[in-house]
Amino acid sequence: MPARKPLISGNWKMNLNHFEATSTLDKLRYLLTKDDYEAVDVSVHAPFTDIRTVQTFLESEKVSISIGAQNCHWETNGAFTGEIAPGMLAKLNVAYVIVGHSERREIFGETDIEVARKVTAVFANGMTPILCCGETLAEREGEATHGKVTGQVHAGIDALSAEQVAAMVIAYEPIWAIGTGRTASSEDAQQVCAWIRAKVAEMKGADAAAAVRIQYGGSVKGTNAAELMAQPDIDGALVGGAALDADEFARIVQYRLA
Ligand code: PGA
Repeated sequence: MPARKPLISGNWKMNLNHFEATSTLDKLRYLLTKDDYEAVDVSVHAPFTDIRTVQTFLESEKVSISIGAQNCHWETNGAFTGEIAPGMLAKLNVAYVIVGHSERREIFGETDIEVARKVTAVFANGMTPILCCGETLAEREGEATHGKVTGQVHAGIDALSAEQVAAMVIAYEPIWAIGTGRTASSEDAQQVCAWIRAKVAEMKGADAAAAVRIQYGGSVKGTNAAELMAQPDIDGALVGGAALDADEFARIVQYRLA
């Protein structure tokens, strides 16, 4: 089985204007080394208004961080006021697009059907989707985690080929752990990531399941990254709050040195 290269992604959410984005990346440029990029893939998911600036900075300084977005629309173009087409992101060398983050699902009412359309549109434009899934605290306490997460994964990957699923990223983010300082224990996170991989195997075969990268997200910090990353089915992290601080994000990327 080929080793899965971990992917550590910084989700800036609605933070950091384009000046702040540049200064954060400038710090990361000095903090991260060639060895880091060999061991780990790194992406930053900036607000749309920063992406052109992020691209210019990373390309002119030759920094091996991939450009990410936090969302996109599923249509190619047209009368969708306020939306961003996936092709517009691809033109800016965006490599990864977060799709179906719990904040999009909960605050903006995104449905599984819309999420699935976005996943397909991201692939159609040559980028890699990071499909998010995760349960609420009530669902966890009601022992509904398995059904919720596997249902979201089912809806998100159903229309895809095995090869596409092998190439994508799935992020398991328990909603009760996002921005709360409450991280899932590494055992709980591992258990759900293993369920997700088993679901992928059942739907798309063993090769896709062995290749798909599964991130954990929810209060990941420099102090807990190594333990989470040591779990066999966790192949990376989707980092929110801690990604806004270059030193802290670098500590997470360098978890193997901890
Ligand atoms: P957090 O956010 O690291 O601030 O918990 C994670 C996310 O929502 O992607």
